[in-house]
Amino acid sequence: MARIGNPHDRIDGRIKVTGDARYAADFAVPNPLYGHLVISTIGKGRITGIDDRAARAVPGVRAIYTHLNQPNLQPAGFFGSGQGQAQQSWRPLAGPDVKFYGEIIGMVVAESILSARQAAAVLGVSYEAEDPAAIIDAPGVTVEQLPDVGISVGDVEAGMADAAHTVSQSYETAPNTHNAMELFATTAHWEGENLTVYVPSQWVKGFQIGLAGNLGIDPQRVRVLSPYVGGGFGGKGTLFTWTALVAAAARDMKRPVKLYVTREQGFTVASFRAETRQDVRVGAGEDGLITTFAHSGRELSSRPDTYFVNGAENTTRMYRADNIQTSVSVVHADRQTPGFMRAPPETPYFFALESAIDELARGMNMDPVELRIRNDVDHDPVRGVPFTSRSLVECYRQAGDAFGWSNYTPEVGSMADGDELIGWGVATSTYPTQMAPCAVRVSLDVTGEARVQVASHDLGTGAYTVFAQAVHEKLGVPVERIRVELGDSRLPPGTIAGGSVSTASNVSAIGLACDRILQRLGAQGGQLEVEAAFESYGQTGIEEYAEWIPPAVSGGGRGSLHAGGVQIVGGPEESYAAFAFGAQYVEVRINRFTREIRVPRIVGAFAAGRIMNEKTARSQYLGGMVWGIGHALLEVSEVDPRTGAYMNDNISEYLVPVNADIQQIDAILVPEVDTKVNPAGVKGIGEIGIVGTAAAIANAVYHATGIRVRKTPIHIEDILPTA
Ligand code: MOS
Repeated sequence: MARIGNPHDRIDGRIKVTGDARYAADFAVPNPLYGHLVISTIGKGRITGIDDRAARAVPGVRAIYTHLNQPNLQPAGFFGSGQGQAQQSWRPLAGPDVKFYGEIIGMVVAESILSARQAAAVLGVSYEAEDPAAIIDAPGVTVEQLPDVGISVGDVEAGMADAAHTVSQSYETAPNTHNAMELFATTAHWEGENLTVYVPSQWVKGFQIGLAGNLGIDPQRVRVLSPYVGGGFGGKGTLFTWTALVAAAARDMKRPVKLYVTREQGFTVASFRAETRQDVRVGAGEDGLITTFAHSGRELSSRPDTYFVNGAENTTRMYRADNIQTSVSVVHADRQTPGFMRAPPETPYFFALESAIDELARGMNMDPVELRIRNDVDHDPVRGVPFTSRSLVECYRQAGDAFGWSNYTPEVGSMADGDELIGWGVATSTYPTQMAPCAVRVSLDVTGEARVQVASHDLGTGAYTVFAQAVHEKLGVPVERIRVELGDSRLPPGTIAGGSVSTASNVSAIGLACDRILQRLGAQGGQLEVEAAFESYGQTGIEEYAEWIPPAVSGGGRGSLHAGGVQIVGGPEESYAAFAFGAQYVEVRINRFTREIRVPRIVGAFAAGRIMNEKTARSQYLGGMVWGIGHALLEVSEVDPRTGAYMNDNISEYLVPVNADIQQIDAILVPEVDTKVNPAGVKGIGEIGIVGTAAAIANAVYHATGIRVRKTPIHIEDILPTA
């Protein structure tokens, strides 16, 4: 029998491994046409002419859309500016200007995928090309300071001048692409005035509202289905710009249209994690107490859109300091608009923070774990408010014991083993506890079956299972007899599957709905009691709808919930600071001659409030750390500065860790009870696992080699022995 916290198997596990789970591309529609996107092959400039004679001559071609015959679409509003749901501020095919390499400039619709692709390949597009400024360091980018973003406490200059030990360094992180297994397949099917769209999405409600806005129709006429997602990671969190094109084409053609975005196209038509440049300054006294911390970031964005992640909002919450200063600027370049990718702010900014802390520890000859423990705080150093709970030190203790940190010898190269240089490194993980308004429906029928319905999502995270467990805990109905329905915009509006908000928020709402059912039954909960109460209740079924609005959401939380808005609250913002914490210890082994870097061992301990399901939680942590290894050593979207094209836009050259890269990896679930954070006591674990891993590896690389690499990914050429 499953209980909260128990390692219950995924209730959707069987249908996933047997192929019965239907992903966006799997839905059959009657008599479909096939769409194929045409993308720009210059990095910047203008389309001067379209010659579609050869394309139209391809058998089976039914329509070719370009800016010359664009469907009449409205912009959906840019999510990043809080104005809407779309991944970028402009709609595709709006005009002849080309903003970046790989931008959508057309769409072919044909009777088969091959016809559509062939026609797209022979579509004649002439350009007036300019040289793009496609990378963050290119001359020709425009830097925008963000005056309203940033923290200033005390006096950083004086603090640095007074400090006995200081670090002042710059760090770089590379662009990354989600490159999920599942491609961005999109199907639009009209039945009369009603549109059904099948698309892999982390936010069906936002898709529904944004798409209705694009098309200028009543949202009630749009249904978006995304029951399973084959890898989201943030890349499927906003409304894809081509969705409305596909829907408009299906409306014109009076037939369903299915479109497959190719893997290469997915590198430019969707979002990505932008590269950063960061400067960190840390000052500490003789006693090892940090007095001063300054963190500034430059982040790449597109020309029109100001998208940024500002990870310094959270790096400032990790350690004590009296003088704190942060700033962010956006570097506008000729690339697509970036977007969320797992722990969007923390992944790049904690690489810099946790590398700098290691450099500080080295400079003062202090154990890096001891330095972090000595600077632990129980109040948010910026605002002075308490943490709802904070178990960072306990995470360091438990992971350190499991790792065997007591055997650490700090001297560089001191732990070599034959031809292998061994390095050990540590780093802090964190993720803010965030929540969002959401609504759910829970029902119970006379046979004792329960059902929970919510327009939320399971990206492989375990949401189906965890939501069933939440109902089970309240009503006692066995998990096997609970049906969970997700990923349908017609269901009550759950949260976007982003910002690690889903479990905390949806489980809080499920709790409310279940409490109402118990109230109506006059029961306290528990299977037998509910069954008995139900008998005397004398009805065929009982259904309760509940909305949960986090207390910190101001004013229009409810209206926004139903209108495709997102109001995420929590983290550092409220009367408490709410964060999950973790500590990671890694071992690297570097071949003395070839400099090949391996990570044979990694131990992470995480405290994230209540854990709903030990098994799915562990998988989240392990997956996060595996991804952290990729971030540290492998992942980079290589941009050709001459054209702005991604050079490794596939799954063979965009490197991610494979089984052979992962040896021993352990996640310790540190128990933590948090009664303040939300009614569910849940902090959210979808993103914390990746945070800090890259810094821990860089710190271990230094311990092994004496070479400090201040960029990700760390490659062999970065650690060649100095002559
Ligand atoms: Mo997550 S990167 O907020 O989808």
